[in-house]
Amino acid sequence: MHGMKASLHNKNILLGVCGGIAAYKAAELVRRLQDAGASIRVVMTPGATKFITPLTFQALSGHPVHTSLLDTEAEAAMGHIELARWADLILIAPATANSIARLASGRADELLSAICLASSSKIAIAPAMNHVMWMAETTQKNVQQLQKSGVKVFGPASGSQACGDVGPGRLLEIDELITSCTQLFSTGELQGIKIMITAGPTYEPIDPVRFIGNRSSGQMGFAIARAAIEQGAVVSLITGPVHLETPEHSKRTDVDTALQMHQAVMNDIKEQDIFIATAAVADYRPAKPLPQKIKKTDDELSITLTPNPDILKEVAALDSPPFTLGFAAETQNLKDYALQKLKNKKLHMIAANLVAHNLENKDEQDTGFNSEYNALHVFWSNGEATLERCRKMQLARQLITLLAKKYDEITT
Ligand code: C5P
Repeated sequence: MHGMKASLHNKNILLGVCGGIAAYKAAELVRRLQDAGASIRVVMTPGATKFITPLTFQALSGHPVHTSLLDTEAEAAMGHIELARWADLILIAPATANSIARLASGRADELLSAICLASSSKIAIAPAMNHVMWMAETTQKNVQQLQKSGVKVFGPASGSQACGDVGPGRLLEIDELITSCTQLFSTGELQGIKIMITAGPTYEPIDPVRFIGNRSSGQMGFAIARAAIEQGAVVSLITGPVHLETPEHSKRTDVDTALQMHQAVMNDIKEQDIFIATAAVADYRPAKPLPQKIKKTDDELSITLTPNPDILKEVAALDSPPFTLGFAAETQNLKDYALQKLKNKKLHMIAANLVAHNLENKDEQDTGFNSEYNALHVFWSNGEATLERCRKMQLARQLITLLAKKYDEITT
């Protein structure tokens, strides 16, 4: 279950293909980069299109291929400046002697070099050319200059060449290219780890227009999703009704009720390495929601409630459960209740926070459910940590760092 540590999940890679015989290998490279989790857009130099067609790359990447700086249609779809900003990495493979020379001299008269010039993302080149061209003093000087300005150089490998010669100048094997790309990013504490996060409130219908809900805004769960994605995690976010933007690179599922949330979680939980339950799931739901709107009378009205499944408890009780982090929002006896929950639900960790209960005195109590701020007291079987009151995003980052450490301890 332990996810692959090194991967390219959540990464946008712009693949620049230049005009050399190794261009055909770039098609396989697209597939393999996608398998590693990356999103791919392809830019081809005019020379590359003589070796392999843009259609091949369009079909593989699922996006239009960009081949010219002055193509109005392609510029309208995603302009070269936008492409430059979109990319986390620009990988030029194969990189020809000519494209290396262009790059080194800062040219912008052709699409790929213009994008490189306009980009502040990482750039890597995988040279492929005849070995005499590779060893040529000017090529070597250009490569050294690029390296000095931070461009990574992958390869080339030595061996037999398309021209019949033997020597350095072959495109690095695809496996090695993937590993090299991965190494550029493998700093995230949760690289490639699959995390499911529940967030927000649930709405339990009384009749078609009324429901029982709670004040959870979903902010903490969404902040945790963002912090996990920053660390390279593959995040599924299952959320009740909230007014929040979907974190980039997350897979979001929207639900209303506890039963729907339960279903959505169980559908996918076997795939997950970590489960974080921030949702304020309603403990009870109206036993029989009425099919029509309830009419007002002068009589008292009672609604029979029936317990909802405890999603977190059920996940933690699975045969091989993921690492579980629960939340305990309390208005009193924080530590006692949190520790009880840790034990009773058999969790790996629990994060407890005092929710504002004195609505009169908002300044002092401004933490928890509907606030930008929060503070957490985190417990695990043999330790605890206090995360002081700060903005939820900062708090989420601290929590993710702590969680990654504990997760590492139990899985390695
Ligand atoms: O027992 P209590 O509801 O206070 O536990 C809170 C923790 O359990 C939270 O992490 C919450 O997301 C989770 N929970 C759940 N399903 C429920 C109730 C709570 O996943 N039905």
